[in-house]
Amino acid sequence: MRIKAILSLCLFTLATAVSADEFIKINTNQVGLVLRAADNGRLYQSYLGKRLANESDLQHLPKGNEAYLTHGMEDYFEPAIEVHHNDANPSLLLKYVSHTSKNVQPGVDETVITLQDDKYPVTVKLHYVAYAKENIIKTFTEISHQEKKPLKLERYASAMLHFSRPAYYLTEFSGDWIYEATMSTTPLNFGKKVLDTKLGARANMFTPPMFILSLDKESSENEGEVILGTLGWTGNFRFTFEVDNKKDLRVIAGINPYFSEYSLPKGETFRTPDFYFTYSDCGRGQASRNFHDWARKYQLKDGQEDRMTLLNNWEATYFDFNEDKLVELMGDAVKLGVDMFLLDDGWFGNKYERHSDTQGLGDWDETQHKLPHGIQKLVDEAAKRNIKFGIWIEPEMVSPKSELYEKHKDWVIHLPNRDEYYFRNQMVLDLSNPEVQDFVFGVVDGLMTKYPGIAYFKWDCNSPITNIYSPYLKDKQTHLYVDYVRGLYKVLDRIKAKYPKLPMMLCSGGSGRIDYEALQYFTEFWASDNTDPIQRLFIQYGYSFFYPAKSMSAHVTTWNKNASIKFRTDVAMMGKLGFDIKLSDMSGDDLTYCQGAVKNYKRLRPAIMEGDLYRLVSPYDGTRSHAANQFVSKDKNKAVVFAFDVYPGYGEKILPVRLEGLDAGKQYRVKEINLMPNQGSSLEGNDRVFSGDYLMKVGLNLLTGNKLYSRVVEITAE
Ligand code: GLA
Repeated sequence: MRIKAILSLCLFTLATAVSADEFIKINTNQVGLVLRAADNGRLYQSYLGKRLANESDLQHLPKGNEAYLTHGMEDYFEPAIEVHHNDANPSLLLKYVSHTSKNVQPGVDETVITLQDDKYPVTVKLHYVAYAKENIIKTFTEISHQEKKPLKLERYASAMLHFSRPAYYLTEFSGDWIYEATMSTTPLNFGKKVLDTKLGARANMFTPPMFILSLDKESSENEGEVILGTLGWTGNFRFTFEVDNKKDLRVIAGINPYFSEYSLPKGETFRTPDFYFTYSDCGRGQASRNFHDWARKYQLKDGQEDRMTLLNNWEATYFDFNEDKLVELMGDAVKLGVDMFLLDDGWFGNKYERHSDTQGLGDWDETQHKLPHGIQKLVDEAAKRNIKFGIWIEPEMVSPKSELYEKHKDWVIHLPNRDEYYFRNQMVLDLSNPEVQDFVFGVVDGLMTKYPGIAYFKWDCNSPITNIYSPYLKDKQTHLYVDYVRGLYKVLDRIKAKYPKLPMMLCSGGSGRIDYEALQYFTEFWASDNTDPIQRLFIQYGYSFFYPAKSMSAHVTTWNKNASIKFRTDVAMMGKLGFDIKLSDMSGDDLTYCQGAVKNYKRLRPAIMEGDLYRLVSPYDGTRSHAANQFVSKDKNKAVVFAFDVYPGYGEKILPVRLEGLDAGKQYRVKEINLMPNQGSSLEGNDRVFSGDYLMKVGLNLLTGNKLYSRVVEITAE
């Protein structure tokens, strides 16, 4: 009784500590978010947009909407948080207690706002991390309590943002396997638009956690106010965009609450995933360059380091290979001039040999008859050829036809009393179980211990969570989706701690699992199993809004042989270049061309990998017959333009393409590269010098009326 009295007195004192409105400013160089602790003790979002120039103006701002809206109180629309207390009361009223702001590293400030319920001992901390130069704000929430029994968390958003504008347009990136990141835009009117997934492991198969929100009117590359937002969570997410009766928009981002009620014990903290966003008042181009700069500097694994070009054997052999074939392909890798040979699926399993996708997952020993001398022989053969060796794994999965399944059914997510059903003939291991985490860690650790020469992993994840029941979690089944992802992070943390320099590719039947939390552990991701260069123009374009070229693996294959090897390679060079092809599928000229392209790619690293991306012509524009991207090095001394004609219409009017991001005052030599042997350049102005001013105001005739035609043009300051 006495404790209760002291506690409520304490809460009262905190809740009444605010007398006049207090403004909390979360600023980057260009973006401003202003929160206001009002005299009623509650926290409001008063402003979000281009950073305000004068502090003295803050007092004029409208109060705005409550920053982190709760269930059960006066609001009539979707809340950010809903908790059920020990006494079954489902309401929460959050009052401002205090806030702190500190510099956490050069150029990065963190503000933490503490809110508390005035009737229940529940604390919510809103975190805002502002990256000044990159103009990114990262937000997440921490929830804790002192109730006797666990608090039931029903919804627990990472972030809530409010907008009060005349109109809103949402661009989403939904698709499917081999049609990833397909962009479409819809106006938002009254009601909700929800983007979410409930697939668990291959969580983003139909839609990745990223969006573009245009304010007032539709945005373009260089015009309009936009928010780009993405969630760092390698599992079920949900974005809710709700326009209310006043035409205000709220955006709620976080873990999908679907079947995810979480019991939080007293004294423990539930930390939501990070939501990252940026704002630009000059279109999407700047906003995505913000993301690229931030990712390379702060988020992507080894973001500022080089990447290895590679030859993968997947499309060259599928499951049908042996040691000799692989060694022969290593010879192809050397001829191409790439840095690494990557061995894909099909190298493991003995009792249930992995001869197809029907069996063997979980049994990570080399198949004897295919690889009689083991992985070591392959590592040695690669070393002899002065290239690196990488290997494919899918360690979270199990085939029902495997020794692992026979030994450890208790490790498999499955419904004990029902027939099993399969996605790609496989099931998902229960990563909420620490023993399974050890096993999954052990797949990488075991291989690295036995074969320390392995230089790279391709980590695949082909199945969503099916047959949803965790033998480990017992009566806490609604924790599975969350604890699965947390288990995955524990494993990845251990790998990163033990092998900090080991590059890994994140793959999930293409890009069924990409987000910026996962990319802390992975140097790159596989953008799609679809390597048709025409489709890739669209898929890579979609991902380029959030992910820099060095993170997006793009391989030259034999998909769509109507397109020349040059066209296919030119498309792949806009990402992290690799090959998945046999030299026997190429002519001598093709090989000579590819060798030159690999050299050019390495030479142009400062522009493609580290530079700024300008999307000059969208593949989605008009008749979808052209596309062009430009990469400019940070010092503006080097640029490279990739221009594509897909299926131009007969007699189509073709205009020059204006370049961007150059120094108007500099002189640049324009030179077409990546030409086929004996092919001269037909580019007007080739090998001439132009001012940056001219190139940006008038441009170059980069596009043509030819079908499936491509050009790569190097622009060098004189
Ligand atoms: C997935 C990947 C492919 C390949 C196969 C192997 O589909 O996306 O790149 O690795 O698995 O089975």
